[in-house]
Amino acid sequence: MELRVKFWILSDAYPSIYRSKAGFCRFGLPAACAPVRLLFSMARAQDSSESPERLISATRAGEEDGFELKLRPRWLGEFIGQSRAKEQLAIALEAAKSRGEALDHVLLSGPPGLGKTTLASIIANELDVGFQQTSGSAIQIQGDMTAILTNLRERQVLFLDEIHRLQPVLEEKLYTALEDLKLDIIIGQGPSARTHVMEIRPFTFVAATTRLGMLSSPLRSRFGILLRLEFYTEEELRVIVERSAEVLQVPIDTDGAAEIALRSRGTPRIANRLLRRVRDYAQVRGNGEIDRKTAHAALTMLDVDPHGFDEIDRRLLLTIIEKYDGGPVGLGTLAAILAEDEGALEEVYEPFLIQIGFLDRTPRGRVATRLAYEHFRITMPQRPASLF
Ligand SMILES: Nc1ncnc2c1ncn2[C@@H]1O[C@H](COP(=O)(O)OP(=O)(O)OP(=O)(O)O)[C@@H](O)[C@H]1O
Ligand SMILES: [Mg+2]
Repeated sequence: MELRVKFWILSDAYPSIYRSKAGFCRFGLPAACAPVRLLFSMARAQDSSESPERLISATRAGEEDGFELKLRPRWLGEFIGQSRAKEQLAIALEAAKSRGEALDHVLLSGPPGLGKTTLASIIANELDVGFQQTSGSAIQIQGDMTAILTNLRERQVLFLDEIHRLQPVLEEKLYTALEDLKLDIIIGQGPSARTHVMEIRPFTFVAATTRLGMLSSPLRSRFGILLRLEFYTEEELRVIVERSAEVLQVPIDTDGAAEIALRSRGTPRIANRLLRRVRDYAQVRGNGEIDRKTAHAALTMLDVDPHGFDEIDRRLLLTIIEKYDGGPVGLGTLAAILAEDEGALEEVYEPFLIQIGFLDRTPRGRVATRLAYEHFRITMPQRPASLF
């Protein structure tokens, strides 16, 4: 016989994802149920940083949580760069505040480490409302979703990270909650089952995804504000490094910060990580201060690529150059060789390489540019002039 046991995880000792989250468990052994599910959800949450902890990977490494929290800007004014997204958000925030209403639902998209989670928490701070965070992979059953939505406080922010991982059946449940602030739940089973409509308090739903292409269009259309985060310029990253150094109380000069910014792959998360490593080097091998010379020596010792390329960037370009004479190569072929999924290549890895002009997307496939050849010090083959 199936037992339905409701449990609550109330402890503040767990990450905020699990706070005030309730769920239903459909197994026997009620006592073992909560810890087992908690372990599973923690494992799933860890899954978001699947790749090995590489210095120049843009994905989050587990041990960095505390460090990232310390460096995370809390207000829109402290958030550097992304001027378009910031402006759009500032207007919407101002309007919502002056009307005393909840902000429209916000969808944040862009490659890892560009500040989606940071912006979500800034939205809650600016609105001066509560912030609750969970993730698409942590919500497994309808009970989880019902509990989260019905426990929301008036106008608070609910942040759902990795929304592309939400199961389709739960996604559909979310639609009515987002639009009509109602949730249909079914009580009981078989002929005696009844539907019950639950009211939800007005709230702001903020969702983040690195894979915009995986969201269905009905889901996308539920958001009033769509913000796409772009890679940061070197100048913006330099300011971010200087700000982080100030928070960490590390003496750094403009040139030292610029050297770190140069190798950060347009990504604040990488910039902050490199700063941490360079700080160690400066303390042990130098006088604790970071200037261009120290930063250069530290990053060279750490073997950080001058463009901040990570292993996949390098393998992607070298595959095109060495195996396919510079391309064109189809996306499917590249994905198979690199053992990555096509969408991840297209939305997470390629945008940076295209932006810095190392990769070209053509109708016949991906092509490595002259800059890519020069970077790897490989001579570019002469191509026969095209007839058309
Ligand atoms: N605009 C910014 N100004 C200053 N620091 C920033 C900015 N954007 C991001 N950061 C820093 O970069 C780190 C990573 O940002 P965040 O966790 O918000 O990225 P994310 O887009 O949510 O990444 P993921 O897709 O992996 O969840 C944060 O700790 C924050 O300190
Ligand atoms: Mg995030």
